[in-house]
Amino acid sequence: HPEYKVVMLGSGGVGKSMLTTKYMNGTFSDEYDPTIEDSYRKKCTVDDDTCVLEILDTAGQEEYAAMRDYHIRSGDCFVVVYSVADAQTLYEAEVIAKKIYAIKDVERVPIVLVGNKCDLAEREVTTREGTEMARRIHSGFYEASARDNIRVVDVFTQCVRRIKRL
Ligand code: GTP
Ligand code: MG
Repeated sequence: HPEYKVVMLGSGGVGKSMLTTKYMNGTFSDEYDPTIEDSYRKKCTVDDDTCVLEILDTAGQEEYAAMRDYHIRSGDCFVVVYSVADAQTLYEAEVIAKKIYAIKDVERVPIVLVGNKCDLAEREVTTREGTEMARRIHSGFYEASARDNIRVVDVFTQCVRRIKRL
């Protein structure tokens, strides 16, 4: 089966690890344990084709940002996560997306923008603001919740579709 490398990017605490573990094995934790770097493999079937996703869960915390360029070079697809409860993280998602295009230096890059924590009632980012950002960075878009398992699988399915569409 073909293997695709999906890189999880976004600010610290937005939920990259919880989206990843929810997708991998259905787990979620309320505790915040900042990531240094973790990788996972999962077989998945999308539109009748089976592939293996290698998911790299990166550190959002600024002290590890030096690794980011390296991860971007190695990725086939990028899940760029922000929190709908924190407007600053949407701004940082845009900075990351620009960095992806600068490093990849090609016209089309598979990116899925994810507004996570959509279960929270207290929002700083509207669905419309997320949609507009996705249009600006030429990405797919979902609002999701790792906690409540909302559109978590869709995020990774969309990654595979975008990789295959290239
Ligand atoms: P770094 O590894 O530091 O980059 O952070 P991260 O993006 O991996 O965030 P992580 O998944 O560790 O989640 C951070 C905090 O947000 C934890 O306390 C989680 O429980 C919480 N969290 C993650 N996803 C959700 C969600 O969908 N809804 C809510 N309400 N909380 C969430
Ligand atoms: Mg993490």
